[in-house]
Formats: sequence, structure tokens, C-alpha cells
Amino acid sequence: MSFYSPEFVTCNDEKFKVLITKEEIQKRIAELGEQINKDYKDKKPIFIGILNGAFIFLADLMRHVSIPCEVDFYKLSSYGDEKVSSGKVTERKDLDADISGRHVIIVEDIVDTGLSANYIKNIVDRKKPASVSFVTLLHKPESIKYHIDVDYVGFEILPQFVLGYGLDYAQEGRNLAQVYVLDED
Ligand code: IMP
Repeated sequence: MSFYSPEFVTCNDEKFKVLITKEEIQKRIAELGEQINKDYKDKKPIFIGILNGAFIFLADLMRHVSIPCEVDFYKLSSYGDEKVSSGKVTERKDLDADISGRHVIIVEDIVDTGLSANYIKNIVDRKKPASVSFVTLLHKPESIKYHIDVDYVGFEILPQFVLGYGLDYAQEGRNLAQVYVLDED
């Protein structure tokens, strides 16, 4: 099977180059899956994917999870169509599952300022789960404004705008199989 993974891509008239290859992404996700299998053995966790950005990461991650598990989705939006966070979180879809007493694994595409992560963590905590952990494919530690403990991180990156593998620029680029960054050259 071949996935959409050009060397360069133009999105909204701006040129992007590869930052993290599809091979690097898949290798790291397999490692995260293995870790989760060990940490959640006999716990039947429920994954909560944060839409839209986490849908591809969550799908690939779950295929490396070999213990019984469930999935549900929560939809937030904070970026609008810009390259910097709007600083406001809008809730667009609540959970369907009852997560009280459950072991919850929140799955994000990226932690940037930490605003969305804190918002969702508060909502999940109020629903009285047995435990909550947080997994993100990408983390920009230098951009953090709202502290959040992230239990599983795919890759730490610099505070730069990235695209692909679920992450969009004004809704485009989510279908790219690799993570791209602005090509300043
Ligand atoms: P935060 O609330 O500032 O941590 O931002 C979290 C959300 O903003 C993520 O779930 C993404 O949807 C979006 N986001 C943050 N950084 C980027 C980026 O570099 N590219 C695309 N979307 C981003």
C-alpha cells in the first residue's frame, strides 16, 4: 500500500518540507503501542481521540494495541484557520461513552500551548474515571503556557508550525502520511 508522502508540499500557497518521515512515525507508534500494552495489561482502557487532528494517529496507534480496549471521540477546535492558536477552545462534540470508573487514555495529535490538553483533562476528570493518561504524537515543550503532564510522547519538536499526519493548515494537509514543516529556504 502506498500513502501520500511527497518530499515537498504546497498548502495554502506556502511550501512545506518533511520533518518526520513516515518510517520514523510508524516505528515510534509501534513503540508507544508496546508500552501501552505493558502498562494497561488487564485494565481494558478506553482511548479518547481528540478530533479532528488525532484521527490518523489514533487509528495507527490502536493497531499496535493487543489488549482489550475501547474507543470514543471528543471534538474540540482551537486553531481556527490560522497558524497560531486562537487561544480559545470550542467544544464541538461530547463523549458518548460513560467513562466513570474506566482507565482513560486521551489521544492528541499535538500539545502546543497545552490549552486544549488542560481543557479536555478537566472535562475527563469531572466524569470520575479510575485513571487518566495522556498520549500525544507531537509535543512542543518550548510553547507550553498551560502545564500538562504528558505520559506518552511520540516526538518533541521545536515551536514551529507543522502539517500532515492528521494535522491541518486551514483544514488542508491532514491526508499527508508524514509530518511537514514550513520550508524557509
Ligand atoms: P494547544 O491547545 O495550543 O496545545 O493546541 C492544540 C491544538 O492546536 C492541537 O490539537 C492542534 O489541533 C492545533 N495545533 C497546535 N500546533 C499545531 C501545528 O503546528 N500545526 C497544526 N495544528 C496545530
